[in-house]
Amino acid sequence: LFARPIVFVKGCVRLADLPPMDRVEIAFAGRSNVGKSSLINALCGTSGLARTSNTPGRTQELNIFQSQSENLRIVDMPGYGYAKAPEPKVRAWTQLIHQYLTGRATLRRVYVLVDSRHGPKDNDVSVMNELDRAAVSYQIVLTKIDKPSAKDLEKAVAATRSAIAKRPAAHPDIVLTSSEKGDGIGQLRSEIALLLES
Ligand code: GTP
Ligand code: MG
Repeated sequence: LFARPIVFVKGCVRLADLPPMDRVEIAFAGRSNVGKSSLINALCGTSGLARTSNTPGRTQELNIFQSQSENLRIVDMPGYGYAKAPEPKVRAWTQLIHQYLTGRATLRRVYVLVDSRHGPKDNDVSVMNELDRAAVSYQIVLTKIDKPSAKDLEKAVAATRSAIAKRPAAHPDIVLTSSEKGDGIGQLRSEIALLLES
């Protein structure tokens, strides 16, 4: 699946810009700067596919990528929470994220990215609440596991598992990743390939 080219299709600032619902979609959501765009690049094996930055608020649209050979579309989302962008813009993204996440019939799974140094924050839990209410399948991905100490990582994993265990519905186990070092990337690729078969 990821051995074949994945290409950028378009950026969407409103729902009407989205392509027709003719493919399986997966989306990457999470706080600003958590590493969504970097993870998409790591999965696709192309460093410049999705634009990344040190400054929170890099991704400002729903950026659509798709496989040229398989029935897969990948959506890179703007981050929620703090972003270095004007308030009305942030409000518009928040609304777009909400509408997309809860109203897209072809959305097969959302990967909710959580920083492995911190574990889930209030706004991560809000998104989980929203996805559970809308009965959308999601999985938590811890990012940047190359950063915390082994002890801090263990704490964040425990906090994340306990947040998941409290959910009303069952969810797949968390995945530990580093886009920088490559940890968890192969696992995530296989899980996405399996989603397409189901
Ligand atoms: P927004 O689009 O602003 O919401 O951010 P994002 O979630 O797309 O994050 P992005 O991929 O742009 O990464 C943010 C910063 O974290 C960049 O400086 C990346 O280089 C860095 N980063 C991402 N993944 C990793 C990782 O696995 N390890 C380390 N050490 N840094 C990472
Ligand atoms: Mg981004």
